[in-house]
Amino acid sequence: KMRVGILISGRGSNMVAISEYKRRDPTRPYEIALVASNVPEARGLVAARRLGLKTWAMSHRGMERSDFDRHLDAALREAGVELIALAGYMRLLSDEFVDSWEARILNIHPSLLPLYKGLDTHRRALIAGDEYGGCSVHVVTRDLDAGPVIAQARVRIQARDDPDSLAARVLEEEHKLYPIALEQYVIALRGETANG
Ligand code: GAR
Repeated sequence: KMRVGILISGRGSNMVAISEYKRRDPTRPYEIALVASNVPEARGLVAARRLGLKTWAMSHRGMERSDFDRHLDAALREAGVELIALAGYMRLLSDEFVDSWEARILNIHPSLLPLYKGLDTHRRALIAGDEYGGCSVHVVTRDLDAGPVIAQARVRIQARDDPDSLAARVLEEEHKLYPIALEQYVIALRGETANG
């Protein structure tokens, strides 16, 4: 099974969704080898431990980005991680890190990319008067939120929506989309390896 490392900075609800998806059917082609965080007090770490998952945490404060990423990289490799899933990991990754995990990092972003890269996506969708909000799973490249999109889900925006209400409905879609997109990506990667 492909060993997946999940990176979180906060609540970790997408990490839990991925874990539950695997738990419902243990034959899924991946296993969660590590949940890692740059925020030692992240709520998601508590949830991960409760789920029996291995965790690693180190604060990035006062550290050069590249130094922190070297520690992170060492922890992931030590755990035998082969594929990384960013799940509310709110820190930019260094070019060196991204390059050394080329095509091996996925991210979920709460917008219909290429719209609204970066932060405050739901507010921006509402201000623009968009008909739909949504979420995207994409492959991580050096440029923020700009790598190839592999899956998307749309959510219709309602007249009474505010950023929080829209975020909540999009999050439900994230929880359905991310586990499936991750699984499909694992299967695609395996196919590539098998074909040399
Ligand atoms: C999710 O909505 C995710 O799409 C978003 O943060 C939230 C994390 O929630 N990610 C980003 O904004 C990345 N720039 P979670 O910790 O409960 O999974």
